[in-house]
Amino acid sequence: MSDPVAATNLGEDSGSTGPANEGKRSWTERLVSPALGRHPERRQSFTSTSGVDIDRLYTPEDAAGQDYARDLGYPGEFPFTRGIQPTMYRGRFWTMRQYAGFGTAEETNTRFKLLLEAGQTGLSTAFDLPTQMGFDSDHSMAMGEVGRVGVAIDSVDDMRTLLDGIPLDRVSTSMTINATASILLAFYIAVADERGIDRKSLSGTIQNDILKEYIARGTYVFPVEPSLRMITDIFAFCHAEVPRWNTISISGYHIREAGATAAQEIAFTFANAMEYVARALDAGLPIDKFAPRLSFFFASHNDLFEEVAKFRAARRLYARLMRERFGAGDEAAKLRFHTQTGGVTLQAQQPLNNVVRVTVQAMAAALGGTQSLHTNGYDEALSLPTAAAATLALRTQQVLAYESGIGDTVDPLAGSYYVESLTDALEEKARGYLDRIEEIGGAAEAIAYMQEEIHRAAYEFQIAVENGDKTIVGVNKFKGQEEKLDLGQPDFSALEQSQRTKLAGIKAGRDDAEVRARLEAVRAAARGTENLMPRIVDAAKAMVTLGEISDALRAEWGVYRPV
Ligand code: 3HC
Repeated sequence: MSDPVAATNLGEDSGSTGPANEGKRSWTERLVSPALGRHPERRQSFTSTSGVDIDRLYTPEDAAGQDYARDLGYPGEFPFTRGIQPTMYRGRFWTMRQYAGFGTAEETNTRFKLLLEAGQTGLSTAFDLPTQMGFDSDHSMAMGEVGRVGVAIDSVDDMRTLLDGIPLDRVSTSMTINATASILLAFYIAVADERGIDRKSLSGTIQNDILKEYIARGTYVFPVEPSLRMITDIFAFCHAEVPRWNTISISGYHIREAGATAAQEIAFTFANAMEYVARALDAGLPIDKFAPRLSFFFASHNDLFEEVAKFRAARRLYARLMRERFGAGDEAAKLRFHTQTGGVTLQAQQPLNNVVRVTVQAMAAALGGTQSLHTNGYDEALSLPTAAAATLALRTQQVLAYESGIGDTVDPLAGSYYVESLTDALEEKARGYLDRIEEIGGAAEAIAYMQEEIHRAAYEFQIAVENGDKTIVGVNKFKGQEEKLDLGQPDFSALEQSQRTKLAGIKAGRDDAEVRARLEAVRAAARGTENLMPRIVDAAKAMVTLGEISDALRAEWGVYRPV
């Protein structure tokens, strides 16, 4: 299936005629053609990762079609192209929110405190695969994975340890959790409740974006329909109980990391967003009640200008979609997003080069108006980030924020003939994919289509690297002179045993009759239509484990089977 939007072509050979392009045409004849005769350009053609043809030069002629009020507007006003806040980083820098988590809750709590002491302004939690897949650390499916790609959280007791010494009413906590998001949120709320912290003061985010798990990331558990019901239950529960909580982080990051282009990243993320919004409306939730707490998560890769244009196009497209399709008000039409620098762009060869890649990518996120940012450690192509690498990654953000002037004016690249043209082109390409997904029947029906497009883009990128069209410094050009890194790694075997011992203690010390009653209440709610969250919070408080709650839901819903 070919790209629904043929390569978007800007500039002099875009076929546009008339005086608008006369100046550029005569310049090409007078100066460029003779210059090319003497010195050909580096490549036959220049295109962005999204297949947008990049012209040699952009001039006012290329932005002639743009209407400032309609297409840009002022920061804080629809369509928010220039930013969602009137003052943006002059009022508050983006949240420096480093993704962290490995081993036990104690070890991750230590890393959280190290990063907060180093100046980060928000928490971001990585969970191990058993936690993400709904298995306790003592389950056979957890063997070898406990604490490896994130922190092991089996019960509210682990959550209590993870959050020890963290002021939950002042620090926002993101949790990268999807299929079992309801359970981790319940653990978090249970800890806040026992500390006497008002739920209305809690701020944070659960990723809770199950559709992208089916499409790209893979940590799904339950079938599509019950998963979407669970998500709308969380929307309703948080609106009533935890109003500052961002109930979902609709993610383009993993879609991009799986190989999607920048335009596909926007389009497929928004296709999922439209699905979630439609489901919430079907569940009777008013758009201007739940939508202001939808949040997003994108990647930032190496093509600086395409990434800046991507973020600006995304803000405008989302605002237009929310208003056009659902009549959303301004608060519900604001695209609020977190950015992570591109994990797949990190290279194992010459790893210190990754510091430069991360810096370029972080600059793109800031110039693109992100609300929150994670910068990768230079050693992450080889291992979990060492404390030194994680600290340098945070310092990278701090240098950009406090020394580069990047936050001193709002949307500084606006008005660039190139960036505005690229912003328009990316919005146009993204709309093309969205139209195709609408034809198929929406995101839940278009999972296979989106997967196919992502795999095609990934293949084309890999071919370009292998034939040298795409240069990766240290990998396919300028190779050699490798640095030796000293990579500290936790002792995972000891940690698995310590988690199992802790779990045995928890199960021995709790009221089994209450555990059974709480689990039965979860199953009854899963069979019926009442909101599941209060039942899961009650179970969490009775020391019911993540695996036990997940098993109760598996018993009622079964598990997702890939098509
Ligand atoms: N003027 C006035 N107010 C301002 C302002 C300004 N210039 N700038 C910010 N503010 C306000 C905001 O309105 C907000 O107020 P509120 O709390 O009343 O809403 C407050 O200051 C905080 O600002 P933000 O909400 O913009 O920033 P946050 O950092 O709190 O939230 C978010 C950002 C994107 C909305 C949120 O959803 C978030 O933090 N997301 C993070 C998600 C995340 O970390 N994901 C990591 C995933 S890792 C992963 O999946 C990769 C792995 O799989 C490999």
